[in-house]
Amino acid sequence: MTDTSQLQGDILAQIAAAASPDALEAVRVATMGKQGRVTLLLKTLGGMSPEERSLAGPAFNGLREAVAAALAAKKAALDEAALNAKLAAERQDMTLPVALPPTGSVHPVSQVMDELAEIFADLGFAVATGPEIEDDWHNFTALNIPEHHPARAMHDTFYIAGQPNKVLRTHTSPVQIRTMMGQKPPIRIIAPGRVYRSDSDATHTPMFHQIEGLVIDKGITLAHLRWTLETFIKAFFEVDDVALRFRPSYFPFTEPSVEVDVGYSSKTGKPAGAGQVDKWLEVLGSGMVHPRVIAACGLDPHEWQGFAFGTGVDRLAMLKYGLTDLRAFFDGDGKWLKHHGFSALDLPSISAGAAL
Ligand code: DAH
Repeated sequence: MTDTSQLQGDILAQIAAAASPDALEAVRVATMGKQGRVTLLLKTLGGMSPEERSLAGPAFNGLREAVAAALAAKKAALDEAALNAKLAAERQDMTLPVALPPTGSVHPVSQVMDELAEIFADLGFAVATGPEIEDDWHNFTALNIPEHHPARAMHDTFYIAGQPNKVLRTHTSPVQIRTMMGQKPPIRIIAPGRVYRSDSDATHTPMFHQIEGLVIDKGITLAHLRWTLETFIKAFFEVDDVALRFRPSYFPFTEPSVEVDVGYSSKTGKPAGAGQVDKWLEVLGSGMVHPRVIAACGLDPHEWQGFAFGTGVDRLAMLKYGLTDLRAFFDGDGKWLKHHGFSALDLPSISAGAAL
């Protein structure tokens, strides 16, 4: 009996002293392995008389259980220590600055598109897209611009040779049609993207960018349009107040149609509230979606109404960031991009759209 407890004390001390998984394994083999001390001891039970066995059996089994438990506990402790050491060795400081900042920069047009997506996402608008090679029907007919309508001529359309019904889209408005046909109202989308017109001077390039907005729901009025535009202009130009002027206008796909002017202060070079305004800048076209457009998309215009707007992204970028020559936007001049581009690490947000 004394021998058993002494042996147990011995083995437990060896287990405690094992400093590595290998050392512990060696102790395990030497005790619980086929030829281990505990195993051999248990084997001696077979040769004992029943009286001896009734004494030695519980003692030997107690020894085996104690050793097994100590081995398991030590293994768990060593495994945990090994994991902790590994985690400590592989630790990375995520707060460290990037060692080599990326050398490219974000083009002002991309920056402004990201800012717009951020602002409108906050108002519950999703981003929708459509093809740049568009068909006649989506680009014109469904938008209430039938063949021979003078608006078609006004768009300076690029046609695709050999494909009579295909055009390079002249505006982002066809995305309105694709969206209304592709999903059920209520709809709240913006559609930023490239558009094409055969036109070129300091303020026109054959390819430029627009952003379209579309809301379709029940009971939508011009007041919703006005609030949305006001909220968007204030957020985009980072001003607290802005005066808007709604001028009656004409677009085939809206009725009534309005052109929206933003009140500007020459002093701050930014949009301003009524008291500070000394000039007006036309920034976008908009209106209530024409019932014929809603019907062309298979929706009942008595049930669904909405508003739409469209504006030039390049022009918004010029206004916000003080850029003067639109052609420079698309020259791919590295120096211009370096000077006017934005850091790729500086993501726009609704509270900090502009930081350079
Ligand atoms: N698509 C028009 C253009 O390119 C802009 C526009 C005007 C879009 C009024 C609209 C709108 O959605 O309601 O000139």
